[in-house]
Amino acid sequence: MSVADSSWSVASWQGKNASQQPDYPDADALDAALATIAAQPPLVTSWEIETLKTHLAEAAHGQRFLLQGGDCAERFHECTADIITARLKVLLQMSLVLVYGLRKPIVRVGRFAGQYAKPRSSPTETRGDVTLPSYRGDIINDIAYTPEARQPDPRRLVKAYGTSALTLNFVRALIDGGFADLHHPEYWELDFARHSPLSSEYEAIVDRIHEALRFAETVADGPISGIRRADFYTSHEALHLHYEQALTRHVPRRDGVYNLSTHFPWIGKRTAHLDGAHVEYMRGIRNPIGLKVGPTLPPSDLQALITRLNPDDEPGRLTLITRLGVDQIEDRLPRLIEAVQALGTTVLWCCDPMHGNTEVTESGLKTRHFDNILGELEQAMAVHQAMGTYLGGVHFELTGEDVTECIGGARGLTEHDLERAYTSVVDPRLNAEQGLEMALRIVRSHQHIQPGRNGSAA
Ligand code: PEP
Ligand code: CO
Repeated sequence: MSVADSSWSVASWQGKNASQQPDYPDADALDAALATIAAQPPLVTSWEIETLKTHLAEAAHGQRFLLQGGDCAERFHECTADIITARLKVLLQMSLVLVYGLRKPIVRVGRFAGQYAKPRSSPTETRGDVTLPSYRGDIINDIAYTPEARQPDPRRLVKAYGTSALTLNFVRALIDGGFADLHHPEYWELDFARHSPLSSEYEAIVDRIHEALRFAETVADGPISGIRRADFYTSHEALHLHYEQALTRHVPRRDGVYNLSTHFPWIGKRTAHLDGAHVEYMRGIRNPIGLKVGPTLPPSDLQALITRLNPDDEPGRLTLITRLGVDQIEDRLPRLIEAVQALGTTVLWCCDPMHGNTEVTESGLKTRHFDNILGELEQAMAVHQAMGTYLGGVHFELTGEDVTECIGGARGLTEHDLERAYTSVVDPRLNAEQGLEMALRIVRSHQHIQPGRNGSAA
């Protein structure tokens, strides 16, 4: 949006059709919660957001690689030291493997500190002869199957703001304190990973990096700057528009407004409607934004969405997160790429190999097969390579916990194992070992594929 566009305001989305919004029984209670949030300090700053935008612009041109990952849905009660550190550990391990194997700086973006609102395929859930509102994420209601728990409660908005702040505070303190220091990858060791079938491959990379670091620091006669920290940015689906609006602000000495609840909000597949409220809201904020692109989106609609969301072709503004499924990517992705090429704009192409590959087991559990996830990723790399574009990022649902939600991987998890440690209430996540394996496999596939023309996007 050009800054002069007077048809947009932070509330202009309210004049559009807003899908996936909760129905609060008490409008005054909602207003009170939003007023509380609006009076609180922001969670992130415009400086951070602008730096991330620059990094994403570089990733679009093949100079960086985006690693985005975290829970499908964060839970309030999982805002704990153990869970936050474990998630950071697996993301750091993956980024270490990627930086080593791709020879590019990694842009690390967590699906955390605000990933609390979930789009649902049905507004209600029926068990036996009882029908209740669906669970829509902790920011809206509770998972327990009772009418009270499922009632949307606006006080949860304030709680979501608070747990986002607690999460971010801890992440920032860990990073500032040296948790991500490349000299000390032992800080990110996950207990169970020591016995993992992948540990020797990972350890070999760590050793080689150490050797290179020692060499470089000997030559430089001192520590190399930047090695002691690894920045993390945050992202979440900008689904609950009242919440997003309450944290959307002007900042001194900058044009326009920023969503200061997160660095990098994205539009989900179910709300990517050209004339819908989500696209209206997102077109006016200054953040870099993501757009999930599913297999049913016609290429001409994608073009219209790009023109609406990034009319000035601002570098780093728009990341297309394709989630097409292993069976459809080969057919759909080339057409989407052609549509973007025809517009002549630059986007960052990112592959979410999770959401197009969800299936339900006979016992009714949602799962995903490691091989399908990897298969979609490998095809994404191959298609971009063939079309002269650059796959500049990946988007995973993962956790640092030793869960059994996705099938396959080096440890060969089967459908039978799913019952053992399945804790996600929405989508199945890669466990830490599967996440690390994914990073190792990306590097392996990358080494078979030549970098695109100048490594740059068309
Ligand atoms: C998600 O990222 O959790 C999600 C719901 O994805 P999508 O909008 O791509 O279905
Ligand atoms: Co999900």
